[in-house]
Amino acid sequence: MNTEQNTAARVETLLQQMTLAEKIGQMNQYSDFWEVTGPNSQAGDAEMKLDHLVQGRVGSMLNVRGVEHIYKLQKLAVEESRLGIPLIFGFDVIHGHKTLGPIPLAEAASWDLVAIEQAARVAATEAAAVGLNWTFAPMVDISRDARWGRVMEGAGEDPYLGAQVGVARVKGFQGEDLAANNTIAACAKHFAAYGFPEAGREYNTVDIGTSTLYNVVFPPFRAVVDAGVRTVMNAFNILNGVPATANSQLQRDLLKGAWGFDGFIVSDWRSVVEIVTHGFAADLQEAAIIAANAGSDMDMESYAYIHHLEAAVVSGAVPIAVVDDAVRRIVRLKFELGLFDDPYRYCDVERERTMIYHPDHLAAALDMARKSIVLLKNQDNLLPLSRKQEKIAVIGALAVDKTSPLGSWRIGSDDESAVSVLEGLLAYSQNIRYAQGGDVFVGTTDFREEITVNETDRSGFAEAIKLAQESAVVVMVLGEHGFQSGEARSRTQLDLPGLQQELLEAVYAVNPNIVLVLMNGRPLAIPWADEHLPAILETWQLGTQSGHAIAEVLFGDYNPSGKLPMTFPRNVGQVPIYYNHFRTGRPAVAEDVFWSHYIDEANTPLYPFGYGLSYTTFAYANLSVEGIAGRSIKVSIEVANQGNRSGEEVVQLYICDQVATVARPVKELKGFEKVELAPGEMKVVVFILTEKELGFFNNEGMFVVEPGAFTIMVGTNSRDVLSADYRLA
Ligand code: NOJ
Repeated sequence: MNTEQNTAARVETLLQQMTLAEKIGQMNQYSDFWEVTGPNSQAGDAEMKLDHLVQGRVGSMLNVRGVEHIYKLQKLAVEESRLGIPLIFGFDVIHGHKTLGPIPLAEAASWDLVAIEQAARVAATEAAAVGLNWTFAPMVDISRDARWGRVMEGAGEDPYLGAQVGVARVKGFQGEDLAANNTIAACAKHFAAYGFPEAGREYNTVDIGTSTLYNVVFPPFRAVVDAGVRTVMNAFNILNGVPATANSQLQRDLLKGAWGFDGFIVSDWRSVVEIVTHGFAADLQEAAIIAANAGSDMDMESYAYIHHLEAAVVSGAVPIAVVDDAVRRIVRLKFELGLFDDPYRYCDVERERTMIYHPDHLAAALDMARKSIVLLKNQDNLLPLSRKQEKIAVIGALAVDKTSPLGSWRIGSDDESAVSVLEGLLAYSQNIRYAQGGDVFVGTTDFREEITVNETDRSGFAEAIKLAQESAVVVMVLGEHGFQSGEARSRTQLDLPGLQQELLEAVYAVNPNIVLVLMNGRPLAIPWADEHLPAILETWQLGTQSGHAIAEVLFGDYNPSGKLPMTFPRNVGQVPIYYNHFRTGRPAVAEDVFWSHYIDEANTPLYPFGYGLSYTTFAYANLSVEGIAGRSIKVSIEVANQGNRSGEEVVQLYICDQVATVARPVKELKGFEKVELAPGEMKVVVFILTEKELGFFNNEGMFVVEPGAFTIMVGTNSRDVLSADYRLA
């Protein structure tokens, strides 16, 4: 029955039966009575929430766990309320529900859209099996600032890659049929510019201009809207003086207007309340009026709509058309999810039991994990290790950590459920001995509290140094705790926290044959390691199958193919550092000091965007660029595997519009393809650049394609490219 026409008719029939209070109820979302993912709601609200449920004054709930519990609440809404409108249950299913894949930043490092879509489908399958209908993902915020802890949740710094990854994730979550038992509604967040907080400090002010908004921040949102994402979440931040939640230009004019988004917008956690805190509304009542009029359809846990919207409609401050529009959007999604046909369709305890940690899901998580690993350095082919290699030392508290690899967004998952690095390695070889080298993190690991780093206790060093002395090769697993990145986890340093750098140098002094395995949720600045160590592997936080994936790469069963989705700086003072920067009026010159540079550090990054090595090497040759019909450009390149093992390479295409009415960046990614090449094999990779890739948004927000000189670049990363000139007519 769920054809578009039918749904529209059913929505209208329902709307006509609803009282104003019931309509506003649909716009109200509550967190479960004992779960929070933000600052605490008011005490004593459990009873109120319960009353509102049976009165039909709740449209959605978040943070409800498990089929039984969801069933109970759904039953109250459906059987006790006057109209029996089912609830929609949302949850932060960010990179898996129970079975976790890599954190999203790591997934993006795979540049493998098929695998990313599959990973999202696995997440949706488990989420739907526990009764959920809606995830607050993907986060499509672009960010250039590694200090910001939430870079772990996005696809990195580039709008083109970010758009492709976002679309893959939306397709994976939503599939073709939202009513199927392996799909859920997705939510693109956070609209808009949440990834540009000043100085990388969480929830901080955002002040950026039209060019960056249109060319960097908006494209991934636009792409997922075009791909049919059903919901969008607005943001905590103020943008150019207007809180995103209160921003009518963003939500009404652009998203719902110009882009034709037909789903609904949910506020972020109590972000309607924060309109007051920002100094944009005098009180919650005014905030409710502003947010609703600006196009925020559903209020997450602010209690603003439920307490104030009715009076606002009666007084005329909020037109009834605003409410009706919001309710239509919300209720339509419930029809699409099949909840009106059977509100309990996702409440099957048997399915919950069999789908969670299903072997197919573990296999997909492993696949995604190995593809997300980035090889940063491999001098003299120290890697891969041989299974026959004797005397391997493993050092570092993170090597046995079974929780940090799950990352920071893991509220659905089980602590201690990741395969540790040590476990993964022991499955390969018994020639392994372990020393912790001391605690890195001490005290609580509650996700609502700060992580405490060991800054003083070096008592574990001696054992690690002794083991390193007795070993042929040392695998050091260092990095960040799972709760050192993610929401509210901004840092001012990008080094290895605590005493880890000191431990690393102490071990190096007795045995320099070190493979550094990094486990972290953001780009780190590791210049010493890059200068001294022979091998470095970036493993991010890889989820449930972490240790197995890392072992496969270390022992060479999988040839690493990941490429950095974010620039790695030399030091934190370079941040924000990103490859698609503009030219300055004073580029590098040798004669004097008056050019754009630092007096104490190079301008260049430690590892550029798109960078990543393989156990084989790829050669690029014969770049050819020719104009074809419709102002399009055909670009082709030969890529050959020069080594003696097969491998995958992400071939990257960049352009630079040399002269434009709004100056363009030195490079912009406009295409990529992941190719697999056998030893000695050569493939010709072809890209077509159309006006869509060649144009840009000017400072009026208009998309323009300007004739003139372009540089077309193709290569293995954003730094090492072959280039050719092209003149667009
Ligand atoms: C706040 C976060 O910013 C948002 O991304 C998340 O979905 C909500 N909390 C709900 O947990």
